[in-house]
Amino acid sequence: ENHSNSPIYEKKIVNIAHRGASGYAPEHTISAYQLGEGMKGDYIEIDLQMTKDGRLIAMHDERVDRTTNGTGLVKDLTLGEIKKLDAGSWFNEKYPQLAKKKYEGLVVPTLEEVFKKFGRQSNYYIETKSPEVYPGMEEALLKVLKDYKMVDSKGYTKNVLIQSFSRDSLLKVHDLNPKLPLVQLFSYKNQATITENELQSIKRYAVGVGPNFNMVDRKYVKMVRTHGLQFHPYTVNERADMKKALEWGATGVFTNYPDVFNEVLREY
Ligand code: G3P
Ligand code: CA
Repeated sequence: ENHSNSPIYEKKIVNIAHRGASGYAPEHTISAYQLGEGMKGDYIEIDLQMTKDGRLIAMHDERVDRTTNGTGLVKDLTLGEIKKLDAGSWFNEKYPQLAKKKYEGLVVPTLEEVFKKFGRQSNYYIETKSPEVYPGMEEALLKVLKDYKMVDSKGYTKNVLIQSFSRDSLLKVHDLNPKLPLVQLFSYKNQATITENELQSIKRYAVGVGPNFNMVDRKYVKMVRTHGLQFHPYTVNERADMKKALEWGATGVFTNYPDVFNEVLREY
């Protein structure tokens, strides 16, 4: 498929602002995303959860507890209830040295609000989180992409990459729209290897793989790249690891510090 306008092909290496510039501002808030854009990140990374009333919101956890002043599962709360929560004060309390008054009272954004704010000049690296908890999540995502013209009439996109740990979720998206570029995430507990068969199978629906960086090695990256797949490890926050990822052949990294990764890219 042709994704030739997409930054993953336009540029050699992409800088993915993980949950926004979440090393500096409360993750998955408009502030964190704006900061990532200001630091010249190529993609805003967005984790999706779905509310009781079927709305897609930007949040990492299934529960609102860690990143808001509320409690409970996203699936049991309406968007109205979630909109009442403070998604910034936790950050000020956890990171006093990074705290800013303006983070107090930030709200949880919907995917639609993120698209409204940043439009089609920005790029989005969107993860279907816990898709087994949210039946209809993929259909809801594709509807929002269509409503905000992130895909053209033929189904192509320049702005969006879809990622998931769930192969089923990616296959579902692929079934609904085979033109969308997909990335298969992995979370390895031990030193990782990837086989010829696995890569052949991934290539049928995805354009890349995204494993945790701390469990892969040069050989793993080489296998992936030899198969023509993109390699986007997460979460690469240390300069030395950024350099290592580049040396091994990464085509992008997820980072909480897009400014630091751009510095490393300039030196590289
Ligand atoms: O999506 C890449 C990386 O973010 C996966 O881990 O838990 O931060 O969503 P997590
Ligand atoms: Ca993620």
